[in-house]
Amino acid sequence: MKLFLDSANLDNIREASDMGFISGVTTNPSLAAKENVGLMGDYKSLILEIATMVDGPISVEVTAPDFQGMLDQAFDIAKWHKNVVVKLPSTIDGFKAMARVAGEGIPVNQTLCFSVNQAILGAQAGVAYVSPFVGRLDDGGHDGMNVVEDIVDVFGFYDISTKVLAASIRSTLHCLNAAKVGADVATVPFDVLMQMAHHPLTDAGAIKFLDDWKKVENSKK
Ligand code: G3P
Repeated sequence: MKLFLDSANLDNIREASDMGFISGVTTNPSLAAKENVGLMGDYKSLILEIATMVDGPISVEVTAPDFQGMLDQAFDIAKWHKNVVVKLPSTIDGFKAMARVAGEGIPVNQTLCFSVNQAILGAQAGVAYVSPFVGRLDDGGHDGMNVVEDIVDVFGFYDISTKVLAASIRSTLHCLNAAKVGADVATVPFDVLMQMAHHPLTDAGAIKFLDDWKKVENSKK
């Protein structure tokens, strides 16, 4: 399973990339807005900066609600950088746009996906990635990871090439279970990514190693 960072924060992207943890980045209008980005020109500048840090897929989401507006933005976004993946929502207008944009050979990330049926439709349209939102499904009392597992199973049964990108990840358990059910990618918030690296027994063991070493080192001085 590949890990992408779900963030538009340049410091976090730089740190995660320098640690070799991530092979891509996903953004969305809310994550961009957290970085005080609310205009397409600023979004483009942000994405081009991210592209200097991560040599992998960078998902950039349209902000237009309507089919034509999505098309116009998608074809513009696709020109920003070779690694850009255009995010289109699983709305009716989004589905209409997916087929047109994917049909032009532009990689599409189908976002705001909440069901296997939506994922099946996106795969029909030729999207490169489908992003089932695990955390938001859980919030509503559903089993978000079960939706991911079902999409993986259906795509595997029909040898569908669309990648399953587990999104709306809220915990290290989500990361673990996304890997166990066979998601191709999990896009992970920075804090969760760092929690994946941390274990208290590692910290205690590292301290003990050094303490034992220093006892002998000091006895030799
Ligand atoms: O990639 C989608 C992700 O950013 C949504 O996460 O926590 O807002 O549901 P969340």
